[in-house]
Amino acid sequence: MTAPAAGLSGARVLVGVGGGIAAYKAAHLVRGLVGAGAEVRVVPTASSLEFIGTATWEALSHHPVLTSVFQDVDEVAHVRHGQQADLVVVAPATADLLARLRQGRADDMLTASLLVTRAPVVLAPAMHTEMWEHPATTENVAVLRERGVTVLEPAVGRLTGPDSGPGRLPEPEAILEAARAAITAPRTADGAVARDLEGRHLLITAGGTREELDPVRYLGNHSSGRQGFALAHAALARGARVTLLAANVDLETPPGAERVDVGSAAELAAAVEERLPGADPDTDVLVMAAAVADFTAAERAGAKIKKDESAGEGEREEVPTLALRRTRDILRHSVSQRAQGGGPVIVGFAAETGDADTPALEHARAKARRKGADLLVFNDVSAGVFGGAENAVHLLDATGAELAAAAGDKTQVAHAILDALPSRPVPSAPVPWTP
Ligand code: CTP
Repeated sequence: MTAPAAGLSGARVLVGVGGGIAAYKAAHLVRGLVGAGAEVRVVPTASSLEFIGTATWEALSHHPVLTSVFQDVDEVAHVRHGQQADLVVVAPATADLLARLRQGRADDMLTASLLVTRAPVVLAPAMHTEMWEHPATTENVAVLRERGVTVLEPAVGRLTGPDSGPGRLPEPEAILEAARAAITAPRTADGAVARDLEGRHLLITAGGTREELDPVRYLGNHSSGRQGFALAHAALARGARVTLLAANVDLETPPGAERVDVGSAAELAAAVEERLPGADPDTDVLVMAAAVADFTAAERAGAKIKKDESAGEGEREEVPTLALRRTRDILRHSVSQRAQGGGPVIVGFAAETGDADTPALEHARAKARRKGADLLVFNDVSAGVFGGAENAVHLLDATGAELAAAAGDKTQVAHAILDALPSRPVPSAPVPWTP
């Protein structure tokens, strides 16, 4: 495998636009790529210009647009753009484009660029359900994937006209994150994204749980779910199957992930348990990236908790005391369950702050030993990382020893975590579990 690019910032990204009504969504994608610091060149097909014209692409990419192989012939543009690209993203990729790419045609600027490039290629399909499900398209997609092209799963939903079903272009934010995952992924010798996680099934928890106190209030935390979602994108790019348990996450679902939304720690615990060994033996990695509440209300009030207004001027008001109880530690529980026979590789997270006596890393080493996960991803949150795009982590094994460190955007960190993933659980002393 060869080294991946550093990220989208400064990368040369060629955006191909196919002829479909969803072409307008590619405008948001181009804006997102430019916002991420990429150098974008847009190559629309002739039929896509019926939907969105060159002026839009030139204004958004800040560069002239190439529509024909007979433009800039002196500079051999039909070869140069594909050669120079660090990444190619096609959105929407129509059924016709998929067929032409599969055949290796080079009859317009976009297909010529795609035949020349050795950069990772991400195709975001959009078409009617019948076209997506046609055996010809199914076969074209399979062949392209075999060749190392990333073909995203289309979203399910409203299509052109009254129809609805699979075939909708994934939202631009989801395509952007998939592009970020592809450009930072490890590569094969011929430049394609390595599908080194093919055949593995990751169960990833993400976000922050909310514990209801009454019908209007909850105890929550600042987790945005970005790191867990970045892990899902990265794992999907590398060929894994992903189930994403999302606790209160306001992010687009990574194309191809099975997403289950949950609210509280108890709901998350139940959702994990349902999918662990015995219940779902093909889950072979559990990643606990979610920030799970350690305490929940001993009793949720059935009606809104009111303040006491009976106290007169200058008198002390009665302030309610919240009675809390411990939630299940899902990570430790999963590790202890596994000790009873088989089970997935388990990855935990530890967001720690240092204090006067103990640096954050020492707290994390102690947690690694306490939790017994195969891999503990520690990040120092003294300076605060919640909601941001960047992260810096140390990867510890169950003895607290450091295996690797990684820093960068959350997708780069995600790939580093996947690189360190053991292929099977690392035998360690069983961690006792007292519910
Ligand atoms: N975790 C869990 N269930 C809980 C609490 C935490 O599975 N009820 C998991 C988190 O998903 C994370 C790891 O445990 O992977 C560490 O979470 P963290 O909040 O840092 O640890 P705690 O066990 O809560 O320890 P403390 O708050 O005392 O530092």
